[in-house]
Amino acid sequence: MLSSPTRVVVTGAAGFIGSHLCDRLLAGGHEVVGIDNFSDYYERRVKEQSLRTALADPKFTLMQADLVDADLRQALAGAKVVFHLAGQPGVRPSWGDHFDRYVQDNIVATQRLLEALREVPIDRLVFASSSSVYGDAEMFPTKETALPRPVSPYGMTKLAAEHLAFVYMRTFGVPATSLRYFTVYGPRQRPDMAFSRFMEAMAENQEIEIFGDGEQTREFTYVSDAVDGTIKAASAEVVGQIINLGGGSRVTVNRILDTLGEISGIKPRRRHLPAAPGEPRHTGASINLARERLGWEPRVSLRDGLTKQWEWFLAMSPKSPRVSSS
Ligand code: NAD
Ligand code: UGA
Repeated sequence: MLSSPTRVVVTGAAGFIGSHLCDRLLAGGHEVVGIDNFSDYYERRVKEQSLRTALADPKFTLMQADLVDADLRQALAGAKVVFHLAGQPGVRPSWGDHFDRYVQDNIVATQRLLEALREVPIDRLVFASSSSVYGDAEMFPTKETALPRPVSPYGMTKLAAEHLAFVYMRTFGVPATSLRYFTVYGPRQRPDMAFSRFMEAMAENQEIEIFGDGEQTREFTYVSDAVDGTIKAASAEVVGQIINLGGGSRVTVNRILDTLGEISGIKPRRRHLPAAPGEPRHTGASINLARERLGWEPRVSLRDGLTKQWEWFLAMSPKSPRVSSS
């Protein structure tokens, strides 16, 4: 656990997970350089809000830059750890012309960062990979040794980036570790993700769009747990390792909506759409390696985490529902 205060770099600092990571590192006394290009995948206003706590801290420096073409030397100088979270997320929109963005922000951006790291002696590069690399896994819970077979272009680009990190490790000694996050949720969750969309629809008394029959399962991971594991990976003996970070239980989308209905007191109105291409039917993490190598354990239950995200949503939403229609 990064014991003494140190200088670290967080790419994707203005994003959902990256902003929480910055807050936690700053609270731990570290000097944080955040890099983000404020990509337009979702509103800049949302990212600025996510960064508010970090920006108020004198130990935080923000570099607005695109990893693809930025000169990273100054940002990386003196850094001990680089947390690489910048990327183009989202499984469902990664088809068609959108693919170029995924290649640029996930593969090319990672390659440019790795090139810059050939010249900088860091202790650790922690890469934010994804459960999407597994695709439709053959075994649940899925171990890191399972053969990755992505079913979305997004998952393919995350796998390519993961391989690139290890190419630079083997060839130039970049001390890389790859974490495979499983569907992260909590306050500041991206607006395109399921829980954000469900809460938005419920607050506006709109129908909730469910892709497929709702019986698909996801291993949902609360954001503070993902951040915990990420910081632990910066100092544990895990160079060259791939480690799953999953919240500890698999749940169906239908069950999520039932629980959200109970928490909010609003009865969800459901509308089923065709299943979205590129989505695995199920995800589920074996977290034994994270337990053993990182001394990590997810702490926040799904109900508690959903409650926290709902409370955050109500506090942030200009049109908070005060409806009690159950
Ligand atoms: P996010 O979109 O909120 O954050 C990513 C940030 O990266 C954004 O602020 C964006 O502006 C920035 N960025 C994108 N391309 C960039 C570039 N070329 N140069 C500089 N900055 C760039 O996404 P998130 O949900 O916080 O995800 C963070 C990382 O974790 C991503 O790499 C994603 O693939 C991975 N991941 C997320 C989840 C999840 O459930 N949220 C699960 C698995 C993996
Ligand atoms: C999430 C992130 O968005 C990806 O960036 C990340 O890489 C991935 O997790 C991962 O674990 O690797 P996803 O699991 O699709 O992807 O996350 P959500 O958008 O929260 O969707 C969860 C489930 O809800 C999916 O089964 C999806 O089909 C369903 N869903 C989502 C709906 O039924 N309706 C919606 O409006 C949104």
